[in-house]
Amino acid sequence: MSWTLATAESRYVVSLAPERLGLVLDHWGTADGEPWSPAGGEHFEVRADVTPLEYVALGTRQVRSADLVVDHGNSLVGARLVWDETGESSDDGDRCTLAVGELDSTGALRVTLHLETARSHDVVSKWVELTNTGPGTLTLPRAFGPAWELPIGPGARVDTLSGRWSREFTPATVDLPVGELSLGSRQGLTSHTYAPVVAVTRRDDVDGAEHGAFGIALAWSGSWRLGIDAAPGADRVRVAGGVDDESCVLTLGPGESFTSPKTLGVYAPQGTAGLADRWHHYQRVVLARSTGLEHRPIVYNSWYATGFDVRPEPQGRLAAAASELGVEVFVVDDGWFTGRTSDRSALGDWTPDPVKFPVGLGPLIEEVTGRGMRFGLWVEPECVNPDSHLYRAHPDWVYRAGDRPLVTIRHQYVLDLGREEVLGWVEDTLRRVLADRRISYLKWDMNRPISDGGRPGDPYGRQWSVQHAQGYHRLMRMLRAEFPQVTVEACASGGGRVDLAVLGVSDVVWTSDDTGPRDRLAIQHGFLSAYPAHVMSSWVTDEPDRVDREPVSLEFRFVVAMAGVLGIGADLLAWDAAERSRGAELIGLYREIRTLVHVGRVVRHGSPAEPVYAVEYGGGPDLGDRTCLLVYARADRPDHVWLTPRTLQAGRAYRLRGTATVVIGGAGVEVPFTLSGDADVLVLEPVG
Ligand code: GLA
Repeated sequence: MSWTLATAESRYVVSLAPERLGLVLDHWGTADGEPWSPAGGEHFEVRADVTPLEYVALGTRQVRSADLVVDHGNSLVGARLVWDETGESSDDGDRCTLAVGELDSTGALRVTLHLETARSHDVVSKWVELTNTGPGTLTLPRAFGPAWELPIGPGARVDTLSGRWSREFTPATVDLPVGELSLGSRQGLTSHTYAPVVAVTRRDDVDGAEHGAFGIALAWSGSWRLGIDAAPGADRVRVAGGVDDESCVLTLGPGESFTSPKTLGVYAPQGTAGLADRWHHYQRVVLARSTGLEHRPIVYNSWYATGFDVRPEPQGRLAAAASELGVEVFVVDDGWFTGRTSDRSALGDWTPDPVKFPVGLGPLIEEVTGRGMRFGLWVEPECVNPDSHLYRAHPDWVYRAGDRPLVTIRHQYVLDLGREEVLGWVEDTLRRVLADRRISYLKWDMNRPISDGGRPGDPYGRQWSVQHAQGYHRLMRMLRAEFPQVTVEACASGGGRVDLAVLGVSDVVWTSDDTGPRDRLAIQHGFLSAYPAHVMSSWVTDEPDRVDREPVSLEFRFVVAMAGVLGIGADLLAWDAAERSRGAELIGLYREIRTLVHVGRVVRHGSPAEPVYAVEYGGGPDLGDRTCLLVYARADRPDHVWLTPRTLQAGRAYRLRGTATVVIGGAGVEVPFTLSGDADVLVLEPVG
């Protein structure tokens, strides 16, 4: 028995393995391929160890890594899963689904694998539902989602995005001739350390140019793990993962179920360059609630200008300057709520500070909206300072590992969202803050990892990171349902919580706290390899670079922010009249290209470390076949810089806007550097 799930360009074909072992991947690609067949004659291993199973339990597979570990509670660990001869598939012309059941031979557990594709994009989604069908309680020390058995071995090249606070999304490639590579987070959230997405290719095929590339991602915002297992000599490389199996143990009482996070996969025959396109397209057509301007306005954010010192009068003056520049929403960052003068106190007390705002936020909101801008606020609803009214009233609401002393990070604790009363309080608090319907933008922050998870005495307490992520998603979905006019910018000390689940519940993400322009460009370069421009919030600030300190112009700063959803975070009151008027012109330029930037096809030329780097956005027929190139240069760039746009139609003539230059698709264009010596914006429009 075999099933074919169609995507826009590829086919994912699975069939039933011999001995009712479960599903195997036969073929994944654009052309037809040979079905998998057992090599036979394996010695020293059981059949399940050498069968490329989509989902396998320890106990079914004996030696190699498994996706599921079941603890029956009576010293019996493992499960012998057997295909139960059901399989429900559907194809409505766009969406293809397959659900396949497996049973543990003891009758204690039912496993249902779900696979889903659509012809409108190229991403294959898989997840698993685990149901306790026996009389006793089961615990699951590992409950990953379904795995990916990639036909690229032996060994693999794995492209990762890694980093730390203020240095997120740095590309790093791992050559894995043999062994297991483990990436993940134990922080209760996605983390700055690794992004839950990898590109995997054959070792002998740089960037997958000849044999194609596979992208695998996890849609999960709690602790997670992805393992890439290149067994010696094996022609399949297994990528598996899900909820972190070091910090989390799931409990399933009789009749209870757990649905794993989705793991997502995409195949690009062109190699890794084609993965970005396919991920971006999926994020636009499936994850984004819209890609229009309503949820990606030009922001002014107060953080870099005023820090915690937010008072109505200076904020009003900043708002006036921002509106003259062409800003569309004015966001008051941290510091607006009761007692908040530093990061040491007041988190949790979400009412306007009576000292700073004696008559509330009303007059400032009036000032902002009166200038034709929307108004927004910063919140960090998952955390609390010990020095706060909330903590004094509810010291038991934070995560606590028994009697172990509590650990503060940035002087704060984390609220236990696994408790319904706490989650309900956060929900009601958000409803109260947003009761003034003029507040239509929230920057949602989370400024520490979660430690000390657990709830002693509660058998479900060991799955705190799952509960926390589920609680966070529920809150974000509540905002969408009850406050659809509110745009949500997701942030966790910069890019600490960016994943495909967050992108399904927020509108834009704050990519990093590092707004130094050259540093930021490097961060954005990595980000765009997996995540799209329409979610990439980027502000022009006055901040210096921390890593790559080569000086830049004001224009360079703007062109960096134009690469995604542009905002302003600079202290505009310190800008002179010339800077402000230049800023207004550059925002005007951004307005002309922003739809193209948000929904165009992204091609990165070179890397930000080189003398010249560019990001191209190709519109295709839907956007009038326009293309734009954002160009960044260093002092050692050549006098004459030529770039070959890759999204133009071959042979078609395009005019370089503002000049008489005509460029033919397939040929190069000289960058005039009319904007400044270190940055330019080239707009190419078809002639005739
Ligand atoms: C985090 C965010 C910043 C800012 C501060 C406020 O660091 O990433 O953008 O909002 O918190 O405290």
